[in-house]
Amino acid sequence: TGGSLKCSLPSRPDYVPNRISDPNYVRIFDTTLRDGEQSPGATMTSNEKLVVARHLSRLGVDIIEAGFPASSPDDLDAVRSIAIEVGNHPIGDDGHIPVICGLARCNKRDIDAAWEAVRHAKKPRVHTFIATSEIHMKHKLRKTREEVVSIARDMVAYAKSLGCRDIEFSPEDAGRSDREFLYHLLAEVIKAGATTLNIPDTVGYTLPSEFGQLIADIKANTPGIENVIISTHCQNDLGLATANTLAGAYAGARQLEVTVNGIGERAGNASLEEASGYHGTIQVVIAMKCRQELLGGLYTGINTKHIVMASKMVAEYTGLHLQPHKAIVGANAFAHESGIHQDGMLKHKGTYEIISPEDIGLARANESGIVLGKLSSHQNKLNVWEAVNKHLHSLTDIIFPKRLTLDLHSGRHALRCRLLEFGY
Ligand code: KIV
Repeated sequence: TGGSLKCSLPSRPDYVPNRISDPNYVRIFDTTLRDGEQSPGATMTSNEKLVVARHLSRLGVDIIEAGFPASSPDDLDAVRSIAIEVGNHPIGDDGHIPVICGLARCNKRDIDAAWEAVRHAKKPRVHTFIATSEIHMKHKLRKTREEVVSIARDMVAYAKSLGCRDIEFSPEDAGRSDREFLYHLLAEVIKAGATTLNIPDTVGYTLPSEFGQLIADIKANTPGIENVIISTHCQNDLGLATANTLAGAYAGARQLEVTVNGIGERAGNASLEEASGYHGTIQVVIAMKCRQELLGGLYTGINTKHIVMASKMVAEYTGLHLQPHKAIVGANAFAHESGIHQDGMLKHKGTYEIISPEDIGLARANESGIVLGKLSSHQNKLNVWEAVNKHLHSLTDIIFPKRLTLDLHSGRHALRCRLLEFGY
């Protein structure tokens, strides 16, 4: 109920593509390098993708969707390098090697390219998808339901015929698809060899209770579903992606698709923030760690200490920076300005912090996260002024609101003038 994430979790179970070795273990499928890279302007170089993939492995993600190999020779090369390097050597503390996955539409050219890119990994996966909502089938694909079922079945079987044993299938726009049709199509792709069924809310249309019910219904009504892993992929158009993802896990999904900083198409992927859509993996993982009692003991293999670095790296490479009030990793996520909160924090950190910054790899800028502003108490302002007078260098340890920048090299007099000017 506050402070450090002290829960001790079981270790990551062995990986079998279609088997849940521990019913409480939830696989984290990171698609920063695929769906995340689809954010406008977020393109990364092959080398940047490789660096991010290494860090994702260190972070402990189970599956890295490294790209969409058919989209360009460059992306095929990037995914292949990740498969060769990250897909064969353990980097994280627990010695695991992530699955390396490539995306493919349901056609042979895409599947060939994806398989060519990922097959070098120790644990390769092809992820193929086709739309299943009426609006997509009619206007985008211009195909009937029967045609879509037959393409999906044939292309999953085709991936299997290439030698791929770990095949993920997604019915795109599942959130708006007819349930009975979904059960039928999913049963067919399971028979054809799919090992993970990913349920995308492609346009971020559902509410948490609806999305949870969708997962529960698929689990209850799809023949053969007990032989595969159910996955979620929630977009953030209504700011509900993270809530929907957690609802999916609660209803039985054991793989969650997320992106670092929630980047992705339009408003992004799993995230708490309505407007920006930044930040996915982190909230989902932290929420699961913080509220285990509510989520029935679910856990992931993520080493949360590497979260801040992942966030910074992705922000830097994509140029998509976080708003200060971003949950968990925003600059203000552990800053306390009002006097009432500061008072509480100085007495017990659990009063206003539900996790501690150290748990996500963040060195706190000052001991108590105290920030001075209009609502801070007079006493705290005096304490800071005392610190300024005593040790000029201690200024580095105090966070000031952006509008008040203190230059360490300024003399004491200049500092005092600046402080007075801003009402400190
Ligand atoms: O949003 C979506 O539907 C996707 C699928 C390819 C999983 O990205």
